[in-house]
Amino acid sequence: MRRLFPPPGADTDPGDLTDRQWSLDELADLYAYPPYPGEGRGWLRANMVSSLDGAAHHEGRSQPLSGEGDMRIFGVLRALADVIVVGAETVRQEGYRGAKARRAFAERRRAAGQTPAAAMAVVTASMELDFSSPLFTTPVTPTLVLTGAGAPQDRVRAARAAGAEVLLAGEGTGVDPARVPGLLAERGLWRQLSEGGPRLLGQLSAAGALDEACLTWAPRLALGDAPRIMDGPSVDVPVDLTLVSLLEEAGFLFSRYRRS
Ligand SMILES: NC(=O)c1ccc[n+]([C@@H]2O[C@H](COP(=O)([O-])OP(=O)(O)OC[C@H]3O[C@@H](n4cnc5c(N)ncnc54)[C@H](OP(=O)(O)O)[C@@H]3O)[C@@H](O)[C@H]2O)c1
Repeated sequence: MRRLFPPPGADTDPGDLTDRQWSLDELADLYAYPPYPGEGRGWLRANMVSSLDGAAHHEGRSQPLSGEGDMRIFGVLRALADVIVVGAETVRQEGYRGAKARRAFAERRRAAGQTPAAAMAVVTASMELDFSSPLFTTPVTPTLVLTGAGAPQDRVRAARAAGAEVLLAGEGTGVDPARVPGLLAERGLWRQLSEGGPRLLGQLSAAGALDEACLTWAPRLALGDAPRIMDGPSVDVPVDLTLVSLLEEAGFLFSRYRRS
């Protein structure tokens, strides 16, 4: 893995520019969250992988687009987060489980006042989730479910009985995406990571809730009819982002952008 951006400067570590294995600590430092943004405010970053031709999955899974370096960064971003916000369809399609507590990050998380692993926060209107799955029965940190006030009450009860905390973040059955970062930040979960999928991410982005995008470009073509990494109606004016860093490994590009 080597750093392509920022370009070399007077204070550049030459080791960053040569192709070598980056330690988990180095990656964690590079992707560290900014300082606490203040009471009731979160920092929401997204992490997604795309094929070069823009597919966000291949036959319903993101794994065929991913690679070793991508999985390493995926793991680091999880290890830095307080909470992972994910759409229910990704949970169903990818068989999501809770985030793991990893020894390599234990000290860093303890020092930051974090639980041993990030909580999952599943966004759903239907509440059609398998509450007997490990995501709900054996997470390291209890799973949250974000839904609307009009969600099916029997399913809300089933989620709570399974140990999940259900947060109401909308007036109808749906969640108001603009409310998500604040609602989680109020619970102390301000380091936020969204792992998609495209429909949820499209809404978070359109609502102006996204602060940062960590996007992996896989050196692969997938074709097909998979959506792009954000799916939804077009915005009135395209949103500008600023490139923060760019890494490369085995032809994969690992980009990090912030809202300008
Ligand atoms: N390339 C990548 O990095 C990446 C990352 C993640 C996922 N994926 C792929 O993307 C696919 C799934 O993505 P997707 O876009 O179809 O689905 P998604 O965004 O993961 O989930 C959509 C579901 O989330 C819930 N949801 C979304 N917005 C909501 C709102 N405002 N209020 C309440 N609930 C809301 C709804 O759940 P209910 O139906 O339960 O109401 C909706 O059906 C999978 O194939 C997965 O492999 C790729």
